[in-house]
Amino acid sequence: MITESIFGKTKDGVEVKEYTITNANGMSFSAITFGAVIRKVMLEDKKGVLRDVVLGYDSVENYEKDDTYLGAVVGRYANRIGNATFELNGEVYKLEGNDNGNHLHGGYNGYDKRVWDAETFEGELGNGVTFKLFSPDLDQKYPGNLEISVTYTLTDDNDLMIDYRAVSDKDTICNLTNHSYFNLGGHDSGSALNQYAMINADFVTEADAKSITTGKMIYVSGTPMDFTSEMLIGDHIDDDYYQLNYGLGYDHNWALNKKEEGEMILAATLENRKTGIKMEVYTDLPGVQFYSGNFLKGELPGKDGVRYLKRYGVCFETQYYPDSINKPEFPSPILKAGEEYKTTTIYKFV
Ligand code: BGC
Repeated sequence: MITESIFGKTKDGVEVKEYTITNANGMSFSAITFGAVIRKVMLEDKKGVLRDVVLGYDSVENYEKDDTYLGAVVGRYANRIGNATFELNGEVYKLEGNDNGNHLHGGYNGYDKRVWDAETFEGELGNGVTFKLFSPDLDQKYPGNLEISVTYTLTDDNDLMIDYRAVSDKDTICNLTNHSYFNLGGHDSGSALNQYAMINADFVTEADAKSITTGKMIYVSGTPMDFTSEMLIGDHIDDDYYQLNYGLGYDHNWALNKKEEGEMILAATLENRKTGIKMEVYTDLPGVQFYSGNFLKGELPGKDGVRYLKRYGVCFETQYYPDSINKPEFPSPILKAGEEYKTTTIYKFV
């Protein structure tokens, strides 16, 4: 089932719509045209109680004020670009240094702050909604007119699939992700540290004190970054380990174990044993930023007035590695003129 409603208006008076897609199992998600935000993901726990497992807000105003990217699509380049600078085809591009002089999630007017066009559909795999955005040449100072579409499909196997597509008329860089914060105990259940996570990666990209990748890979074995088997997120998050000290917890990019580039694999899992809700994350992208919500402060009231404090939700941001445009040793985020940026991430609830 697909329903459509008016969610509200931006401060400039632009209408924001919300779409809710429900599958045959009674699982649903709701997404809004502001930021292509996934605002709700509802499913039954093991006792049959309906839980909303993502953090979000009840008003457009709070999404406009938010600086934590709750549920949004971020871009043109998700995560960080060191010194907010990159070079492409001999041309130097200076971006907004919105994070300690570095560039984060597209700068001050990221795709998370735009009102996207939307169209719902009923498809073979499931029903869903496609969001579209046009990002003109030099928008956020990136080269190339970029036509973007992000499609959310909900299948009857409880897969929430995200298909990202983009085409530019000039060579550019592109790294789109979704910034949903999950708490499988429910968005209103407090800390997310009592969940188990697995990340299918033997290496994590080393970050410096400002979260810029150094180019070095850390072998996770024997460190608190080892999620190769399920581990309680809270178990080692406050260990005295230099990477955790820099990130104030988990806020790092794991280099996924892949046999070949573009291979779709199980990248991560998250499980809450109290509610019995488990999520699997699949992606064809090379990395995942596992971010433990270290900077959440509950400044704005969330859904039903809930305040989301530090570590009340965790993100699995599938992506090219941070600062990969400045690290030739990393998989390249360059999107050539006329070629299609095409990647898929699935959040599957089992
Ligand atoms: C980053 C964090 C940042 C957060 C913003 C994450 O993707 O890795 O460092 O604070 O986004 O909410």
